[in-house]
Amino acid sequence: MHHPVVLVTGAAGGIGAACVTAFAAAGWDIVGVDRAFTHTAPQKNSSSMLFCAGDVTQPSDWQRWLDETYSHYGRLDAVINNAGISGPICDFLDYPDDAFDAVMAVNARGVFLGTKYGAARMIAAGTTGAIVNISSNAGLTGSPRIVGYSASKHAVIGITKSAAKAFATRNVRVNVICPAPTDTAMVRSLEQYSSPAQVHSALTAGTPMARYGDPAEIAAAALFLSSAAASFITGAVLPVDGGSVA
Ligand SMILES: NC(=O)c1ccc[n+]([C@@H]2O[C@H](COP(=O)([O-])OP(=O)(O)OC[C@H]3O[C@@H](n4cnc5c(N)ncnc54)[C@H](O)[C@@H]3O)[C@@H](O)[C@H]2O)c1
Repeated sequence: MHHPVVLVTGAAGGIGAACVTAFAAAGWDIVGVDRAFTHTAPQKNSSSMLFCAGDVTQPSDWQRWLDETYSHYGRLDAVINNAGISGPICDFLDYPDDAFDAVMAVNARGVFLGTKYGAARMIAAGTTGAIVNISSNAGLTGSPRIVGYSASKHAVIGITKSAAKAFATRNVRVNVICPAPTDTAMVRSLEQYSSPAQVHSALTAGTPMARYGDPAEIAAAALFLSSAAASFITGAVLPVDGGSVA
């Protein structure tokens, strides 16, 4: 009996690692990719966990990861396009031109490539598949001090909705999750801009539940959207945000 297989990008990070844990607990086999993995050859942690290094902005890395996935497991059922960077935080007028390109490359181009090449393989294999992209609440409303991040996260929603329509009759569903600030290294790195307490209160000010999300809470939504329980859900924008957009 074959287990379903998920490819998770940014698997070394907070939400990515939580996805690895949640999908593995649900009986999925895992391919985790991250540019923070330093090994060059794929690393097999067990028969059901494969970790590969690489960069989501590079089409050749996508082809290599997908080749590894099919040669190791013989199938692919879901891709979680989760890798992302925050980029700088500063006044709009001070936002560096190069930083805009760098953030768009990882957060928008990386998600486009993962959606395109992931779906292409699943369609070519003639199987049913799911793609879950990770946007942000910054993908839903403007963020004057992180314009590159906000623009990239709005782009993720456009990529998702376009792909959902493109693949609707080809058995690949594409959905997007918009987390509110979640307790990971990304949020902790923002704390360098002032004090942890100030950052915590600024970042949770817009969250009615008045706390950070737990990475496991984002992973649970990704697992649901990847599962057969979500078989009629495509093109959906799911806030997982403690009521932020309510
Ligand atoms: N933490 C939050 O508050 C929050 C809120 C909303 C959305 N998100 C989104 O969730 C996703 C995961 O973020 P996180 O909080 O777990 O951050 P994180 O920094 O803990 O993890 C991100 C991971 O992505 C990897 N990565 C970055 N660029 C890459 C590239 N070019 N190729 C391959 N891997 C790359 C990093 O090495 C890191 O392991 C991101 O897309 C982020 O924008 C996070």
